[in-house]
Amino acid sequence: MIINSIKLKNFRSYKDREFVFSPNTNVFYGNNAEGKTNILESIYVCALGKSFRTRKDTELIYFGEEYGGVDLFFRDSSREKSINFLVSNKNKKQIKINGVKQAKISNLFGNLLVVMFTPLDMFFAKGEPGERRKSFDILISQLNPKYMHFLQEYYKVLEQRNQLLKNGENKVNKMELNIWDEKLVELNFAIKKIREEYIKKIIPIFNKYHKEISDNKEDVFLTYKTQVLEDKESMLKLLEDRCILDFKRGFTSIGIHRDDYIFEINGVNLGLFGSQGQIRTAILSLKLAEKDLILQEKGEMPVLLLDDVMSELDEKRRRFLYEKLNECQVFITCTDKIEGENVKTFEIIKEK
Ligand SMILES: Nc1ncnc2c1ncn2[C@@H]1O[C@H](COP(=O)(O)OP(=O)(O)OP(=O)(O)O)[C@@H](O)[C@H]1O
Ligand SMILES: [Mg+2]
Repeated sequence: MIINSIKLKNFRSYKDREFVFSPNTNVFYGNNAEGKTNILESIYVCALGKSFRTRKDTELIYFGEEYGGVDLFFRDSSREKSINFLVSNKNKKQIKINGVKQAKISNLFGNLLVVMFTPLDMFFAKGEPGERRKSFDILISQLNPKYMHFLQEYYKVLEQRNQLLKNGENKVNKMELNIWDEKLVELNFAIKKIREEYIKKIIPIFNKYHKEISDNKEDVFLTYKTQVLEDKESMLKLLEDRCILDFKRGFTSIGIHRDDYIFEINGVNLGLFGSQGQIRTAILSLKLAEKDLILQEKGEMPVLLLDDVMSELDEKRRRFLYEKLNECQVFITCTDKIEGENVKTFEIIKEK
């Protein structure tokens, strides 16, 4: 898919600005703090309904203004489409697809398909399991429209169950807890099944890219780790067995909210023992695999958003990346101008 243009109105550092893009590579270059990442962010919010760098939507509004937003015009293999994203200080954020207001933000997922690659991805390997879950959740929500719905339901039920646990063992009616357990188990199964399905699909693609870029020298393993059991009875029993502990802690200690995705390289944990270069290679392979998986599943090529990653990659990896991206529309931010065939460059200078 191809983004034709965006119009930013009171979005971050942009009062009123239009960008018309090349279907190939678009490079935003300029000094620090001029507004390069803000452009990628405006595309990202149209794909996923929220930013990758803040939870507070109102931070996206130009300082001192009441509202801010993005109009994005794109085309997929079938037609021209538009997405409007609007945040205001007073009302809930509003999303329109082809001019039609959407009741749920999650309706956005799967329309504009994106793969984002930032230096923050380094945390992905080194950080907490939550970082890895979040990254895979973003990918999976674009592939399966039901996924985010299950996930939201799950966290609602979990919250209710945790509230009960906090009340303490003596005050809680076991029957009530059992009702939440039943719901929780169903949702655990639904989410686990979807996670398993996509991880199984992405592993061979990830391995292929990794082999290619590491010249076959390194073995990498990606696995999905969950404590969720296979059948309902055993899972209910596990929740019950954990109850004493969970009452003490005041939260549910088992379920898909504790899942992790494990990366190993030559038999050891990548986050703990991998070098910077090994981590970069793994992340690069994963991002390229995401792109292929989206194409395979949705029949549409996602757009690639690369925030400052060129400076992170050495010459070999950089060339590898360029080579693999020549079929996609790409948006790159960097501090030095990149020129080349089929490259449209935008010098970004903040308006005074
Ligand atoms: N809500 C906002 N209203 C107005 N200006 C904002 C808002 N949010 C951020 N900015 C401004 O945007 C600029 C940062 O933009 P951005 O993160 O896109 O910079 P960048 O060009 O990517 O910089 P770097 O090269 O350091 O990554 C800062 O000058 C900041 O003051
Ligand atoms: Mg930036």
